Amino acid sequence: MGLLQDIISNARKLEKTIVLPEGDTDRMLKAADVILNTRIAKIILIGDPSIIQRKVKEFGLNGIQKAEIINPLDHPKRNEMKNLLFEIRKRKGLTLDQAEELVNNSLYLAPLLIKAGYADGEVAGSENATGDVLRPAFQIVKTAANSSVVSGAFIMIVEDTTYGEDGIMVFADCAVNPNPNAKQLAEIAVASAQTAKNIAKIDPKVAMLSFSTDGSGKHEDVDKVIEATKLAKEMAPDLSIDGELQADAAIVESVGRKKAPNSKVAGIANVLVFPNLDAGNIGYKLVQRLAGAQAIGPVLQGMAAPINDLSRGCSVEDIVNLVAITANQAQEEA
Ligand code: ACO
Repeated sequence: MGLLQDIISNARKLEKTIVLPEGDTDRMLKAADVILNTRIAKIILIGDPSIIQRKVKEFGLNGIQKAEIINPLDHPKRNEMKNLLFEIRKRKGLTLDQAEELVNNSLYLAPLLIKAGYADGEVAGSENATGDVLRPAFQIVKTAANSSVVSGAFIMIVEDTTYGEDGIMVFADCAVNPNPNAKQLAEIAVASAQTAKNIAKIDPKVAMLSFSTDGSGKHEDVDKVIEATKLAKEMAPDLSIDGELQADAAIVESVGRKKAPNSKVAGIANVLVFPNLDAGNIGYKLVQRLAGAQAIGPVLQGMAAPINDLSRGCSVEDIVNLVAITANQAQEEA
């Protein structure tokens, strides 16, 4: 069975509840129908019930009747959610009136439902920009206890199985932090190794990428990666990690042997940690397009509960897959 099939069949066993704040849109409804009919997760749809009903008829969706539908403007949990938001954000200057206004916004309501225990995870971003999905998530659900930074990993599956572990690799951060400092980069490395183990089901071998290998280049950006590698080793002493490494030294055995002969990771890395978001975001898109790789994610890591952000170009299948991944992450965080 392929990795995605494993993730989907595990999600079925978990019976997690995933909230979809863009719940009255075409792709979300079609995805929710598949998810409910194939029992991948329980679903809360946030949206206008009259629009949902019309589209259910129009598309002939028979699974949606099993979803809980919440109209953000009128539902029994409104007061509870408003007060919860006020409690979480009052120290930041949020007033009750502002909280009342914000709970109308489904991108705020979804993380509030998670925080209150009504849902285990969220998938959004088919209609909204990354920042608009992530900001309320950061403010309400916040980071996990052992983490100070949320980052976005992609599980990359390439056809050439000589790379990574049978062609499976994890790339990060490709989605969130434009310029992480050394400590944040170290945390991203440790979180990516966990994603590799828990979601991609591979034994992580982490390469901290740079334009330099083992001191071949001198620059403050190289120093940052060296420092991050040291910090990551302190944070996770058992982790197989090395840096700084160039991409070829990280993933091509012959190059790794030549450029970093003493490294246990060089040449066989399956988790690539990029020095900044420019490199990570450009890197994963180039591998996806030029190598025809499957790019699953971004899988957000380091959050107290799983909230995942889709690309606006996503398909119904992408949504179904990300809901299954989110359910699997909810298991890890439970
Ligand atoms: N991890 C954890 N918490 C964070 C993070 C983070 N990485 N970034 C911000 N926060 C928290 C802050 O601490 C703050 O919390 P507080 O209000 O309780 O103090 C809150 O989130 C808001 O912080 P801001 O600094 O105001 O965050 P801002 O809104 O400026 O930026 C954002 C956050 C939107 C994620 C920003 O970093 C961003 O735009 N990143 C790039 C996203 C992007 O465009 N990615 C590429 C596309 S995705 C793709 O192609 C797959």
